[in-house]
Amino acid sequence: MKKVGVALLGLGTVGGGTYKILTKNRDDIKKNYGVDLEIRHILEKDMSKVKALGANPDIVSCDINNILKDPEIKIVAEFFGGIEPAKSFLVQCLLAGKSIVTANKEMFSQYWHELESAAKKGKAGVYFEASCVGGVPVIRTLTESMQGNNIKCIMGIVNGTTNYILSKMADEGLEYETVLKEAQKLGYAEANPTADVDGYDSMYKLSILSSLAFHTKVPIDKIYREGISNISKLDIEYGKKFGYTLKLLAIGKKENGKIEARVHPAFIPSDHPLAAVKESFNAVHIVGDNVGDIMLYGRGAGDLPTGSAIVSDIVFASLQSKHKYSSFKNNTDKVSDRGFNKDFQCEYYMRLTVKDVPGVIASISAKLAKFKISINSIQQKVEGDKASVIFMLHRTSESSVKKAVEAIKEVDTVYSVDAIIRVEE
Ligand code: HSE
Repeated sequence: MKKVGVALLGLGTVGGGTYKILTKNRDDIKKNYGVDLEIRHILEKDMSKVKALGANPDIVSCDINNILKDPEIKIVAEFFGGIEPAKSFLVQCLLAGKSIVTANKEMFSQYWHELESAAKKGKAGVYFEASCVGGVPVIRTLTESMQGNNIKCIMGIVNGTTNYILSKMADEGLEYETVLKEAQKLGYAEANPTADVDGYDSMYKLSILSSLAFHTKVPIDKIYREGISNISKLDIEYGKKFGYTLKLLAIGKKENGKIEARVHPAFIPSDHPLAAVKESFNAVHIVGDNVGDIMLYGRGAGDLPTGSAIVSDIVFASLQSKHKYSSFKNNTDKVSDRGFNKDFQCEYYMRLTVKDVPGVIASISAKLAKFKISINSIQQKVEGDKASVIFMLHRTSESSVKKAVEAIKEVDTVYSVDAIIRVEE
């Protein structure tokens, strides 16, 4: 039986989950895939984590050299997160001929090229199924199962924290801050929630997913990003009345040869398959020119779900006689703006607070018309001498909406433009 040595960099949540699966499923993996995966070294300074898992303390240290010098270790799985020391350690491992497996979307989305260059030199492999949507097998779906298609669109709920928050706001009529605090208490959101709520985590994942979908490096600086911290329960409620559900979406599209990539809250029709994805679940909807629509759904985080993707990569890597590399140039420095459309088009929801006087709607409509924006419908609710007005706008460009909003703010009967939310059909 083929025996393959594995090292784990870190025993946090996902590292711990991976340790549990490799231990518990070792015999099944032997039987089903003909490979015996032996954990030969663990890098971890917190011995309480080692003890809690019942791992052998003799194979634990804080020195990467213990991994680099062991020729039996062929695969190194990284769970540190962040850029350093994760990147430097992984580059050293690759140069030493050890394949790497990572869940680290922040590092991988920005240093893919550097890792692959080192991998080619060391004749090793780079595996990252766990970097996007945790346990949901979206990476290998894109790389191994979609060759008969040109992918037109990839659209997903790729962050569980924000999906939990938005689902709770919608189902229980609560405000953002209230749900965030509760999510932090329950461990669904980090003490510093920025990476999740401001859309960075989704942006890193979209960079990886859309690069694979469109066979073109999509660097993070080509991705529009907006988070959920300004979302009010009022907009979620109004959206419901129009038949929409609000989600933080990661969207990659290729139209007329140009790629658009964006992360932002968006209304989707309440009967869209992504609208049914609740709590901390994730899902990715892919449209291929031949297969049509595909949807992958599952847990995007957690020890065992993400550990499942890591172990699947470890098994996959251990069975390769020759590792494959990306089919496109993934050097970020060489990507020009030409292949990207940053001025994307959408339908829009716009909520304003105005003075309840004759002519106010006409003044706003005139500003929209100036920027060739057509109104689909208007709703208003009057309270005292103020009115809350909602415009649903036909498809228009992001730049037109931004200019129109600036012009509308100048109208003296408009108190405020309270929300602009994109609508995806
Ligand atoms: N924090 C992420 C989420 C999981 O909430 O989905 C890791 O990317």
